[in-house]
Amino acid sequence: MTGNPPERKDSPFAGTATGLAPLAGWSDPPFRLLCFEYGADFAVTEMVSADGLIRGGEKTARLIERLPGEGPVGVQLFGSDPAVFAEAAAIVTRTGPAFIDLNFGCPVKKVIKRNGGAAIMRDIDMMGRICEAVVSVSTVPVTAKIRSGWSPDEENFVEAGRTAENAGITAVTLHPRYRTQGFAGEADWTHIARLREALSIDVVASGDVWGADDYLKIVEITGCGTVMIGRGAFGNPWIFSEIKAVLEGRPWTGPGLAEKTGAMIRLARMEVEWKGERRAVVEMRKQYRWFLSGLPDVKDYRMRLSTAESIAEATEIVCELREDMDKRWTGTA
Ligand SMILES: Cc1cc2nc3c(=O)[nH]c(=O)nc-3n(C[C@H](O)[C@H](O)[C@H](O)COP(=O)(O)O)c2cc1C
Repeated sequence: MTGNPPERKDSPFAGTATGLAPLAGWSDPPFRLLCFEYGADFAVTEMVSADGLIRGGEKTARLIERLPGEGPVGVQLFGSDPAVFAEAAAIVTRTGPAFIDLNFGCPVKKVIKRNGGAAIMRDIDMMGRICEAVVSVSTVPVTAKIRSGWSPDEENFVEAGRTAENAGITAVTLHPRYRTQGFAGEADWTHIARLREALSIDVVASGDVWGADDYLKIVEITGCGTVMIGRGAFGNPWIFSEIKAVLEGRPWTGPGLAEKTGAMIRLARMEVEWKGERRAVVEMRKQYRWFLSGLPDVKDYRMRLSTAESIAEATEIVCELREDMDKRWTGTA
């Protein structure tokens, strides 16, 4: 690493915080807004190409925007070149995010092939240079997100965490799987505990939190105060309220049917406003699937929602489902 480490900013995750993880194709402003409404303390954008940002790509620039009403949002950057990262970070910094997060964990081939994401776990010196370059230009805290390593034979999350810490990074999130695992197998929370022992900066836990029980377990095992939730929020932004309720000793009953279907309809409307009807129609399909998971006898509705051609049609199907289930549950069908 070069010269003196840049100055580290305070962690953006003071105290106990639970937030929405960076999720490509998911953590856009409308979905984030829904998660904030239901109690998320912070959220992270989907990963944003540092290259794309500095080339002025319109689509990429859209990814760093936020909606009024959102809570603290971190912008996540991916790339492979420290100078490009720094230039992109300077652009992001001017938009005033809560923090900038650096992606060192993406397992996707397209990203790896260009030496980005988890490929950087194999070049720790490069990781240090990227962290330093971004910390030196950023006016907001800089965090990093890593995996356990490339493979079990190349496990190096402690080395990676120390490198980030020495480069002025404020907090490190560990998703404790190897790149070679993708999302298979269980997240090994003991890795997060080991990283927390090894570092003096904040360590954020990520991986396999699907409800308040998992939350309590991951906190107990890792000792982390901050937890990021990814897939557990799919179709279930209430996971944040559930965790809050448990932390405050309040009983938790979960959303009723009216609230669930209401959230689906609201999200669809926000998505239309955000990205236009055509994209919203296609991208809402995966959302509907998740929102309906766990509801009994909804196969027919799921199928119809997966082929709906407009948000108006999808909304009608959701309303029909609500009425149908209401009748079934009150025994009037
Ligand atoms: C669809 C999907 C997209 C993801 N996109 C990103 C991303 O853009 N940046 C990132 O650092 N991690 C990304 N991840 C990883 C998550 O942030 C998280 O670390 C991982 O899914 C484990 O947490 P979970 O079990 O709560 O989902 C993604 C995961 C999924 C399933």
